[in-house]
Amino acid sequence: MTAFSKNDFGPGFSWGVATSAYQIEGAVNEDGRSPSIWDTFSHTPGKIKTGENGDVACDFYHRYHDDIAFIRQMNMKVNRFSLAWPRILPGGTGPVNPKGLDFYHRVIDRTLELGLEPWITLYHWDLPQVLEDQGGWTNRDVVGWFSEYVGVCARAFGDKVKHWMVLNEPTIFTALGYMQGLHAPGRKGFANFLPAVHHAAMAQAEGGRILRASVKDAQIGTTFSASYIQPAGPTWLSRAAAASYDAVVNRLFIEPALGLGYPWKAAPFLLALKRYIRPGDMEKLAFDFDFIGLQTYFRQMVRFDPLALGTFAREIPHAERGGELTEMGWEVWPENIYLLLKQFGAYKGVKRIIITENGAAFPDTPQGERVSDPQRLKYIQDHLAQVLRARQEGVRVEGYFYWSLLDNFEWAEGYRPRFGLVYVDYPTQKRILKDSGRWFGEFLAN
Ligand code: FCB
Repeated sequence: MTAFSKNDFGPGFSWGVATSAYQIEGAVNEDGRSPSIWDTFSHTPGKIKTGENGDVACDFYHRYHDDIAFIRQMNMKVNRFSLAWPRILPGGTGPVNPKGLDFYHRVIDRTLELGLEPWITLYHWDLPQVLEDQGGWTNRDVVGWFSEYVGVCARAFGDKVKHWMVLNEPTIFTALGYMQGLHAPGRKGFANFLPAVHHAAMAQAEGGRILRASVKDAQIGTTFSASYIQPAGPTWLSRAAAASYDAVVNRLFIEPALGLGYPWKAAPFLLALKRYIRPGDMEKLAFDFDFIGLQTYFRQMVRFDPLALGTFAREIPHAERGGELTEMGWEVWPENIYLLLKQFGAYKGVKRIIITENGAAFPDTPQGERVSDPQRLKYIQDHLAQVLRARQEGVRVEGYFYWSLLDNFEWAEGYRPRFGLVYVDYPTQKRILKDSGRWFGEFLAN
């Protein structure tokens, strides 16, 4: 029993789950799909901790019909999923692949048939490799390539789909993919990171404008990764380090979208972005999003470090801070989501917030037809309590999507961390609704 009920969140609150194409679909060589940067990266030895790749993943490409039914079974309303750009435009730009469009029509139709709402993410990290070969997000032309892709998707699905998210976590795909080399395409350094940031911010707003022009009655958003940033100590240096870290982790993409520009006051190294900014760009970074998607898993604690170039902040590893850790090594600290809702809710330009991802991985083991996952259930309930707390204090948070529907390919970590409400036995592709998923079914029942 929880201290709250679904009614406390109000009748308009959206409940759902989130997934992304590369993490679940598999079928990487089927029906005309071309390789994405994640195919290349996961097939490069040493990049994925377990040596695995997304070739088969959850085989959602063939199993979507039954998989989507789990969302209904849990009495949720929203199926948030992403489109794979290389299925739709195998050349990155140019000819459209009808079989790619067909697959997403089937996913959308199945979603609607079950009385659920499809919420589409246009870019969840699987850039066509042919475009990376031309510089990927570091090449300014990516704004045009992306616009073409968005236009194709909006025209193809706009009659059926009203909820759209332009990018998934631009801070993460630029920082991990183009600065630290930990995610695809595995590039490093400021010379890759900074242009990738500016071009992703341009694409974010441009994508919004294209959707607005081509989809009638669209609700347009984009998603941001977020972590509450806490200074490790009370000193001025510690607080300044936290502020510059916060500028990169939480403010880098939302502020240009809101017309506030890049947060270079708090993180002066971002002034180097100017090298990639052309006249007229700053105005184009803004777009009037109908909602923002907030995605959060943990807080971050930082201390001043003169050797940490850029932010001068160094994160204190979660394991050194004590407390419960998930299978990702991420600290469980539910108040994080409340503090972030307050922080993002304080922006004047933010109309509505949806928690488009939140969740946890724990080592689940099936016992017969059951998977008991009490740690995940507690994680969910404690986070929902904090979401409700923010809502009751006036933050306009209007949805919660659990990450993820299925256990899936967790990027550089491989299949080991299991985030799903549905357990996937990879060798047989058998599914079992975990106890946390059963709980959602009861909690959301009428
Ligand atoms: C987010 C990603 C999502 C998943 C979760 C655990 O950063 O958007 O694809 O990997 O983390």
